[in-house]
Amino acid sequence: MNAYDSARMRDAMAVHGYQETENPSEADILLLNTCHIREKASEKLFSEIGRLNEFKKARKQEGKDTLIVVCGCVVQAEGAEILKRSHPVDIALGPQNYHRLPELVAAYNRKNGRVLLADFPSDSKFDYLPKTKATSASSFLAVQEGCDNFCTYCVVPYTRGCEYSRPASDILKEAQELVSTGAKEIMLLGQNVNCWHGDGASDLGDLINQLAQIEGLERIRYTTSYPSKITQNLIDAHAKLDKLMPYIHLPIQSGSDVILKAMNRQYTAKSYEEIVAMFRKARPDIAVSSDFIVGFPGETDDDFAQTMEVVKRVRYASSFSFKYSPRPGTPAALMKNQVPEDIKTKRLMILQAELLKQQQEFNSQTVGKILPVLLTERGKKEGQLVGYTPYLQGTHVSLPDTFLNQIVMLEITDASATSLTGVKVD
Ligand code: 5AD
Ligand code: SF4
Repeated sequence: MNAYDSARMRDAMAVHGYQETENPSEADILLLNTCHIREKASEKLFSEIGRLNEFKKARKQEGKDTLIVVCGCVVQAEGAEILKRSHPVDIALGPQNYHRLPELVAAYNRKNGRVLLADFPSDSKFDYLPKTKATSASSFLAVQEGCDNFCTYCVVPYTRGCEYSRPASDILKEAQELVSTGAKEIMLLGQNVNCWHGDGASDLGDLINQLAQIEGLERIRYTTSYPSKITQNLIDAHAKLDKLMPYIHLPIQSGSDVILKAMNRQYTAKSYEEIVAMFRKARPDIAVSSDFIVGFPGETDDDFAQTMEVVKRVRYASSFSFKYSPRPGTPAALMKNQVPEDIKTKRLMILQAELLKQQQEFNSQTVGKILPVLLTERGKKEGQLVGYTPYLQGTHVSLPDTFLNQIVMLEITDASATSLTGVKVD
């Protein structure tokens, strides 16, 4: 979502003659987009500001001014503190206000001074953002934002605000803009993407059916889904639409019903597994991935063992797993039975070893198959390109740049736990 937001800020500034650059020394504005989800992500902010300030100081010596703008969820949570603590920061901007970046930059340049904007406006930023263009052959598109689920560990409902779904007509228009500027794949984004309930379609499945009509759009993905809010219509879309990629990111967080209840997740391990089975029935080859939190307050060895059992039954293609990180203002941070750090570390290692093994297994079974790969990036090695299979496996191939942004049929020749290697078949 932050990558998407950054691209939209680029769009907003482009109207005023600004251009994106990879080189901080030539930037008039340095934008730092932040994440508040875990402590580790938040902590990076001040060291990054220090790093950017070196560019600001060097440019000052050449007589050039540089604005440092910090945006994203850390600003929403502690913007005033950032301005107080960090003098190089000129503008602090919450995630619901980034459409106002040009206006704030103009005001700053009129010497109005440092500014913080982190309220929740009643109208949507999406109504103010200008046209967009594809960042690559695979582009993001936010369809839904915010969350009303209030999992007890999570800051998102406080930083991103309550759920909001964009109307289908806006989404279709933006998808068209992305496709006409080079996108072949669109990843629909939302903190609870399958809770989408905007005007113009009955649910996410219906919206995807409408998007699939766009000529030139070859692949559709979506993330992140909330397990108990999956509709039959969305599952059916996987059976029906070739453009909808066989991949579902379905965070379970824990396999223990006691912990799921304490997390305020609205499902049990059993109902989660039933949903996975429904996806597999509709699309037997679907890749399933998940997020896990280990060491949530009160998690016992037995609770953790139940997570491991579910993992062994479900069999994941890939996953993200984290140690529970107490976040200020969330109910779980105040729970008395916090799990010691060394136990969290031990459990995370056990879980990640199993997930990595499953990822290796999933990747290995594609060796020998011929798969369409959308080549989106240049590889580290000269003459190498990197792309993604329908199952979102990163795949390396030796091919010239002319194949960049193309979907190419590759025979998979090798698999590691983290990536595949392939050769082009004619
Ligand atoms: N501690 C650890 N992981 C967290 N996540 C969200 N909040 C926390 C937290 N406080 C994880 C969840 C979620 C993913 C985006 O981040 O697994 O699905
Ligand atoms: Fe956070 Fe996701 Fe829970 Fe919402 S559903 S509170 S975004 S973990």
